[in-house]
Amino acid sequence: MNKTAPIGIFDSGVGGTSIWKEINALLPFENTIYLADSKNAPYGNKSAEEILQLSIKNVEKLLKMGSKIIVVACNTATTNAIDYLRSNYNIPIIGIEPAIKPAALQTVTKTIGILATKGTLSSRLFHNTSEAFAKDIQVIEVIGEGLVPLIEKGSLQTPEMIELLQKHLSPMIVANIDHLVLGCSHYPYLIPQLEKMIPKSVKIIDSGGAVARHTFKILEQNQLLNTSETEPFLDFFTNATTDTLALLLKEYKDKITIKRLHF
Ligand code: DGL
Repeated sequence: MNKTAPIGIFDSGVGGTSIWKEINALLPFENTIYLADSKNAPYGNKSAEEILQLSIKNVEKLLKMGSKIIVVACNTATTNAIDYLRSNYNIPIIGIEPAIKPAALQTVTKTIGILATKGTLSSRLFHNTSEAFAKDIQVIEVIGEGLVPLIEKGSLQTPEMIELLQKHLSPMIVANIDHLVLGCSHYPYLIPQLEKMIPKSVKIIDSGGAVARHTFKILEQNQLLNTSETEPFLDFFTNATTDTLALLLKEYKDKITIKRLHF
């Protein structure tokens, strides 16, 4: 495999760009291809079989585009499809899972909150992780119903969003959580709003940094790190509007391309 081949990244939509940003910060010389399957977002309310089929479609496309490694920048796709993908494709595949373990290790109130999609919270993988690391603590699980469609539209600060967040957070605040785990790659875009709504003592945890570090490690182990220091290509493809990607990636606009693609 060619070291200069791109890292292929996909998500149900625009949210995985929060992971892409961490990867790009840690691995600035890597070429990247990002697929936003926004036409099919949200994945969170679909069946495990539908999520698997969509994940396969995205992986096939990223392989055709020459990816040397694939990052599933979607908790819902990871928790429902990663085992299948890893056993059926001969390429390193990185996933993202809700960061329950660090929250469970650090909690003092012995109560943590997790905000994620229905597809993630109902998956066997999530259940196993929760059993393994958070058995003795109280985990307040809340489905972030309605959040992904609003983020897909770029509606991050609207009254509708604030109202939804208040509703989702309220059982966690009542239960006295001291950690809030963001179990969906779309949600880091809500951190400024969340910080205004939760007590200052509550720590927000997302998995983006850990995924980037893991990607680095796996590339290094497989001798796939791109050692060339030429300007990388950073290509984003969406099968819906390009507007939200442009909004979320505006600080990168001179370095990236965003195009529509049928996939
Ligand atoms: N970004 C996806 C995740 O991390 C969102 C899922 C969805 O499309 O509902 O779970």
